[in-house]
Amino acid sequence: MTFDLLKKVSAILKPTPVYLVGGFVRDLIRGHASPDIDLATSQNPMRLAERLAKTLGGTAFTLDEERGINRIQLPNGIRFDLARFKGPTLEQDLLARDFTVNAMALPLDEASRVTPPFANVLIDPTGGIRDLSQKTIRAVSKRSFRDDPLRILRAFRIAAELGFSIEPATLRLVKRDKALLKKISKERIREELLKLFCVKSSLPQLELMSRAGILQELLPESKPMERTARTYYGKGGVWKHSLEAFEILEEILGNLGRLFPRCAKPLIAYVEEPISGYPRYSLLKLSELLHDVGKPKTAKMIGGRLRFFEHEDVGARMTKKILERFRFSSEERDRAGRIVQAHMRPGNLATQPMITDRAIFRFFRDLDDDAMGALLVSLADHLTYVPVRQRLKWKTPHERLTKKMVERYFLESEKVSPKKLIDGNTIMKTFSLSPGPLIGEILRAVQESQAIGEISNPGQALSWIKKKFKAQLK
Ligand code: CTP
Repeated sequence: MTFDLLKKVSAILKPTPVYLVGGFVRDLIRGHASPDIDLATSQNPMRLAERLAKTLGGTAFTLDEERGINRIQLPNGIRFDLARFKGPTLEQDLLARDFTVNAMALPLDEASRVTPPFANVLIDPTGGIRDLSQKTIRAVSKRSFRDDPLRILRAFRIAAELGFSIEPATLRLVKRDKALLKKISKERIREELLKLFCVKSSLPQLELMSRAGILQELLPESKPMERTARTYYGKGGVWKHSLEAFEILEEILGNLGRLFPRCAKPLIAYVEEPISGYPRYSLLKLSELLHDVGKPKTAKMIGGRLRFFEHEDVGARMTKKILERFRFSSEERDRAGRIVQAHMRPGNLATQPMITDRAIFRFFRDLDDDAMGALLVSLADHLTYVPVRQRLKWKTPHERLTKKMVERYFLESEKVSPKKLIDGNTIMKTFSLSPGPLIGEILRAVQESQAIGEISNPGQALSWIKKKFKAQLK
C-alpha cells in the first residue's frame, strides 16, 4: 500500500527531485510504514503540495512559512510533510537534523522500486544505518541541541519508543545543553513528555532523564523532593519514591488484563480513552510522578516521626499549577489535581475495621470518572511499601480493596451510580418545597441510600425522605 502510494506521489511530482527523509525513512528501514511521510525538496514546496493534494484528493496547508513546510492531509489519515531543504543541498539538510537515525534520505522514485534496507540508493552522510542496526541515538553534530533544545527531550522519547540507547557522547551534549530547555515553549515540552508517557515502559528513559538533571530542569519542584525524607526513602528521597511508584504503575498498566480479568475489557478501554488527545494512562503516569509533590512543604517531625499531614491537598494545588505552567487543558489539570488529592483515600479506607458500602459509594461519587485512575495511582504508591515478591498477590488490605472497587465500578454499576428513583420536581411537589440547595441535598442522599440497598423504588424513596429530612420538611 505504502509503496503503491509512494509510486503515485513520485509520478505526480515528476520531474522535481523529491526525497523521503526523517523518521519515515528510519521507520521504513525498520519495517514500519508510518502514516506520517516526511518529504524534502530543493524547490518551493507550496506549489508541489497543492498539486499533490489536488491529485490525491487531500488538503494542503502551510505549517511553517518561514522554514517552508507544507502539509498534505489525505482523507485516509496519511499525511505528508513536504519541506524545503534546511540548507543549500540535501546533504546540508541532513546534517542540520537531530539524530543520525533521522538523517537519512531516499530519492522518492527509487523508494518505490527497491526494498529496505535500500542498499546503494540510501543517502546516509552521518552513519544512520549503522546506528539504526546498533539501536543507538547519536546527535548529528555538537550543535544539534543548541540549534533546537527540544531535541534533548526528543532523544529520550525516541529512545523509549524504539527501545534504543543514547550513546555516551550524546548524553554528555544533553547535559551540557540542558539549561537551554528554558528557552523552549512549554507546549512543545508538554507534547514531548506526553509522547514519552505513551510508551508502555518509559521509566528507564525517565530515570536517565532524572540522572542527567533534565527532569529537574523542567520540574524544579523535584529538587526539594529529592532532599525530603532521605532517611525514610533513601538517597533521592520522595523523588526516588515517586519514580518507583511510576515504575509500578507502568507495570500495572501493562498487565491490566491479567490483574483484573473480570473487567479487563472496560478497564483497558478506560485507561486508553483519549483525554485532550492523549490516552488517559499518560495523564495517570504524570499524576503518579506528582502524587507526593506536596510532601516537602508539609514535612514535619511529630512525636519522633516524619509526618506529611495534608500533603495531598497541597500536592493537588501544586499539581494543578505545574500543569497550568505546561499549558495542559483545564480538563487535564482538574483530573490530575483530583487524583493527587485522592491518592491517600483508598489506603485510609482499607485500614478501616469495616469498609461500608456507603464509604465506597462516596469515593465513587466524589471522584466520578477519575475514580479508577485514583485507585490505580494509589495502588502503585502503596506497592512501593510492599516487598517486590509480594506485590500484586492481593494479600494486603489495600490491594484487596482496589480489586473490590474496580470490579464494583465495572460490574455492579447500580451500586456506583444507581438509576434515579425520583426527580427534583416530584420532591418539590410532594413536600411543597421551592427550588434551592435542599433539593440537591435530598437527591444526593436518596441516591446514596439506594446505592447501599436501603431503598429500591419511588414509594420507599418518598417515605425515606419524609423520615430523614423531617426537621427540614416540617
Ligand atoms: N527534526 C529535527 N529536529 C526536530 C524535529 C524534527 O531534526 N526538533 C527532523 C528529524 O529528521 C525528524 C524529522 O525532522 O525525523 C521529522 O520530524 P517529526 O515528524 O517531528 O519526527 P519523526 O522523527 O518523524 O518522529 P515523530 O513524528 O514521532 O516526532
